[in-house]
Amino acid sequence: MIRSKKNIILIGFMGVGKGSVAREVIKQSDYIAIDTDDLIESMENRTIKKIFAQEGEAYFRDLEKKISKWLENGVKNTLISTGGGFYKQKNLKDIGIVVLLNSPFEKIIKRINSHPNAVKKLKKRPLLSDLKKAKELYDERMPEYMALADMIIDVTNKSAFDCSKEILKKVKAYV
Ligand code: S3P
Repeated sequence: MIRSKKNIILIGFMGVGKGSVAREVIKQSDYIAIDTDDLIESMENRTIKKIFAQEGEAYFRDLEKKISKWLENGVKNTLISTGGGFYKQKNLKDIGIVVLLNSPFEKIIKRINSHPNAVKKLKKRPLLSDLKKAKELYDERMPEYMALADMIIDVTNKSAFDCSKEILKKVKAYV
């Protein structure tokens, strides 16, 4: 019989590398992965950028809420990577082990800018369009991320491969 495993939920600021780390975790383990932004885009059949532009942020947050309930009730053995604001969902801790990917704001922006698809990566994130506002959002969220995290992984100057190894090791010791 397959023992059911707790979900791992990756939280952290936009561009910190949740998607890349999630892809490594599934390579290195038997977790499967889902991404809350991907779920929202397929539910709505339009991009996050369009949802923000056509319906506004509150509508997007309602979709995140709907997804959080579905995750809590129906998903196991899964690595869940989340959009940067998903952590606000009240049932986060009931969904699984909360893992914060952490890096200074400047390093996150540098990481995005060094990507071959940097322009696309910036464009698809409406809340990164104004860097001054994005930094304020980072400063506001950081203590909240920290308070919720069951474990914190500093991803600065580390490969997704190494971050994933660290997560799997810590999760094994945690459960
Ligand atoms: C958001 C982060 C985005 C996406 C949306 C809102 C946020 O996801 O969910 O643009 O509030 O931080 P990423 O963290 O994957 O960029």
